[in-house]
Amino acid sequence: MTDRQKTRERPTQRRAFAQSYGSLLNEGFNRRTLLKGFLATTAVAAMGDAFGVSRAAAATNNASTLTFTELDRVRDAADHWPEGYDRQVLLRWGDAIFPDSPEFDLATLNGAAAERQFGYNNDFTVFLPLPIGSKSNDHGLLLVSHEYASPFLMFPGLTVDDYKEKMTEDQIRAVMASTGVSVVEVKRTGAQWEVVKDGQYNRRIHMGTEMAMSGPAAGDDRLKTKADPTGTVVFGTISNCNGGLTPWGTMLSGEEGAMDVFAGDYKTLANQELVERQGWDEDENDIYAVSRVEPRFKFENEPNEWMKFDWVVEIDPMDPTAKPIKRTALGRMTHEGAQVSVAPDGRVVVFMGDDDDFEYLYRFVTRDKFNPDDRAANKDLLDNGTLSVAQFASDGTMKWIPLVAGEGLLTAEAGFATQADVVLNTRAAADLVGATPMDAPEGFIPHTGTGKLYVAMTENEDRLPAGEDDRESVNVANPRGPNPHGHLLELVPPGAPDKPDHAADAFTWDVFVLCGDPAKPEDESLYHADTTANGWFTDPDNIGVDPAGRIWVTTDGPPPDGMADAVYAMDTEGEGRALPRLFYIPPTGSEACSPTFTSDGTSLFLSVQHPGELRLEDMEDASSMADAGTNWPDFVDTMPARPSLVVLTKRDGGVVGS
Ligand code: FEO
Ligand code: CA
Ligand code: CA
Ligand code: CA
Repeated sequence: MTDRQKTRERPTQRRAFAQSYGSLLNEGFNRRTLLKGFLATTAVAAMGDAFGVSRAAAATNNASTLTFTELDRVRDAADHWPEGYDRQVLLRWGDAIFPDSPEFDLATLNGAAAERQFGYNNDFTVFLPLPIGSKSNDHGLLLVSHEYASPFLMFPGLTVDDYKEKMTEDQIRAVMASTGVSVVEVKRTGAQWEVVKDGQYNRRIHMGTEMAMSGPAAGDDRLKTKADPTGTVVFGTISNCNGGLTPWGTMLSGEEGAMDVFAGDYKTLANQELVERQGWDEDENDIYAVSRVEPRFKFENEPNEWMKFDWVVEIDPMDPTAKPIKRTALGRMTHEGAQVSVAPDGRVVVFMGDDDDFEYLYRFVTRDKFNPDDRAANKDLLDNGTLSVAQFASDGTMKWIPLVAGEGLLTAEAGFATQADVVLNTRAAADLVGATPMDAPEGFIPHTGTGKLYVAMTENEDRLPAGEDDRESVNVANPRGPNPHGHLLELVPPGAPDKPDHAADAFTWDVFVLCGDPAKPEDESLYHADTTANGWFTDPDNIGVDPAGRIWVTTDGPPPDGMADAVYAMDTEGEGRALPRLFYIPPTGSEACSPTFTSDGTSLFLSVQHPGELRLEDMEDASSMADAGTNWPDFVDTMPARPSLVVLTKRDGGVVGS
């Protein structure tokens, strides 16, 4: 099919799902976009009324509850924040987090040193007030994941072409110890946050930390290795992307794409039925050269080790000696995050995105109820419950289809005799029941004020126009093919806003934002009519909710046409609904991850991940420390860029954004 034929297909496809509430908004908006350049504001407002949608009405300039002066789009070696705000770099890769942490020194960095320092490429970030159960706004633990490392940007003298051969064992061990999770006590004095190095909970978890495996797959033959004949123990966690916080104060960390660190030919593995839905790229394996120092990361030595990864890990930050636990009941996939809420009946609900093109949205609902009065009683809640997957319909409804061995299509004949079969091969189970393939779902967060959920689909260049393929063509919830800019969906559970039933079988849904440039009709974007030339965005990734109910969306990987990754805030209700404003721009090559607030909204924590990963001049991948686009935040010639955790506060001490 030619490009021209593809273009002609699109209007047909749009009509095909015109019954959907979301698509009505969509169609209304696109017409409005086209008209925008020609019609006066009043005419646009009338258009909005015709669709009966408040969002489509032309809003005043005061529509948003956000009061900061929006940034201009820039891309340079520094980071940027609005007038009237302060930005503090609180924790950098290599910073001391214990009284005995060695000074950060690249020349001598090894595993032992890195285990005592803040890790690399911090991603998920959440603030857990201390004492636990309090709402302290100036004292707490930062629970932070460190997703991956780029050795050729960390150490001088390495390049992307030679680092795997040239890294010393100390460097490999330092990389292994620099990923995983950090637990760091922090305190605010006046306007300044600082690390409490002798905090009793401070901890580093990494690629060598001993952990347990629990739930349906624990003890399964496929998880047994020479080091663990029981199938219940694993050393380390890998690719810790986003996560979540349980109501009993444990951290969940999503393992997202651990396969990259394994070496060898996956086609030789016995469990090809699991390999099939792995989305493996053999050219990118062994990215840290760990197989040179730990034989278990080579398939030929340990053909089962890889199945011990890509789970959700639960970490108890209140007990630094407690083994983290991989909760296999939540399925095995490229876990982005695991955001948690409690249903009105007390069951705990975890929302998860599988971050690959055409993968799915999942939910786990515990069998048992959360006990708010007895922390220990919730210890193993995540081992029993129902995993399900999302299916969207064109009438504006969606349902959660259970993935339970022996139920419906998940029969023994189909390969799902036990729940271990289901959780080890979650994607294949979801394929069978007819889940809706999404455009690389990432942020997936329950709004604490309204109970609605916001889900970010980053992008999917491979999404096909209508009618070309059952799985890969556009569908109601992923309406653009290709989808180079991504979109945000809004899922609405039944129940009152203060008692949303996140455990219900069926929700309704809507398109919240279709990303892209509203000035380009071909982008077919959807926002509030007042969205400015600085406020539109592409490639949404993480989403945070502030105490005033606004969502904060961070982006990961906009096209190289002058845009940097950034942080945008917007209302979800009222006149300013879906009107994004540009709040923060991290240094070139980086994304800002995981916006998280103190409960009074006066401090905003952000992870600045992979600074300098692109060259400044042409936005191509940097190949070494020498041609990285920045050495933020130190700007010292001999130092690489350092991924860091920053805090934004309002100079007058007020609520961030307001
Ligand atoms: Fe680690 Fe899906 O980003
Ligand atoms: Ca992400
Ligand atoms: Ca990311
Ligand atoms: Ca991403």
